[in-house]
Amino acid sequence: MPGSLAAGSPGAAELVLRAWGDADAPALVAAWADPEVRRWTVVPEPADLDVARRWIAGWDERRRRRLALDLVAADPGDDRVLGEVGLSSFDDGRSAARIGWWTAPGARGRGVASAMVAALTAWAHDGPLGLRVVVAEVDEANPASVAVARRAGYRRLHRPGVLPGTGSTQVFVSQVGSPESGPERGPGARV
Ligand SMILES: CC(C)(COP(=O)(O)OP(=O)(O)OC[C@H]1O[C@@H](n2cnc3c(N)ncnc32)[C@H](O)[C@@H]1OP(=O)(O)O)[C@@H](O)C(=O)NCCC(=O)NCCS
Repeated sequence: MPGSLAAGSPGAAELVLRAWGDADAPALVAAWADPEVRRWTVVPEPADLDVARRWIAGWDERRRRRLALDLVAADPGDDRVLGEVGLSSFDDGRSAARIGWWTAPGARGRGVASAMVAALTAWAHDGPLGLRVVVAEVDEANPASVAVARRAGYRRLHRPGVLPGTGSTQVFVSQVGSPESGPERGPGARV
């Protein structure tokens, strides 16, 4: 699992990627209650403490079954939850997975998402998973997340269509193994 990391640009976030623990449940409930997280990510219903505890308790099983690797981006000083970044939809044939993220409302605007996405992406390529491709699907009506994908070194692939009630989904990829489409590593890529 990726460990400590620091963003490479002045003023950017310093954080640690770690597993979810039971003590994180209230922070997870708070994030699930945030309107932006609810708007742009899939949140369980009800999004209460019991559900958060069960979701956290299932962390290791999801990892072992290769369903998802969900990580906390934590403050190295006090270990509080700054954000969440995770890999899912592993496709061994294509050596690919999907990445998703959110930043806790109080931790936004200081490079947390860019740093954690760049770091997990670098680890996905260079660590034991050795993935060739990491895919991020971002709605173009979500400019902060489009900026995160770009800042973390992702390239936009194409615009497959319009989602009902929203803007268009943009597909961003980070890919290794092709000189033409290799990732531009953003800050925080060191793990
Ligand atoms: C999107 C989100 C993850 C950004 O988190 P963050 O930690 O504040 O992001 P960063 O500080 O790393 O900022 C990344 C970039 O987004 C830009 N940005 C931040 N908020 C923005 C906004 N409202 N509009 C446009 N750009 C914005 C920043 O300026 C920065 O770009 P820059 O490096 O070119 O200056 C956070 O707002 C969030 O959790 N949103 C709800 C959940 C979500 O959208 N998840 C992603 C689903 S695909």
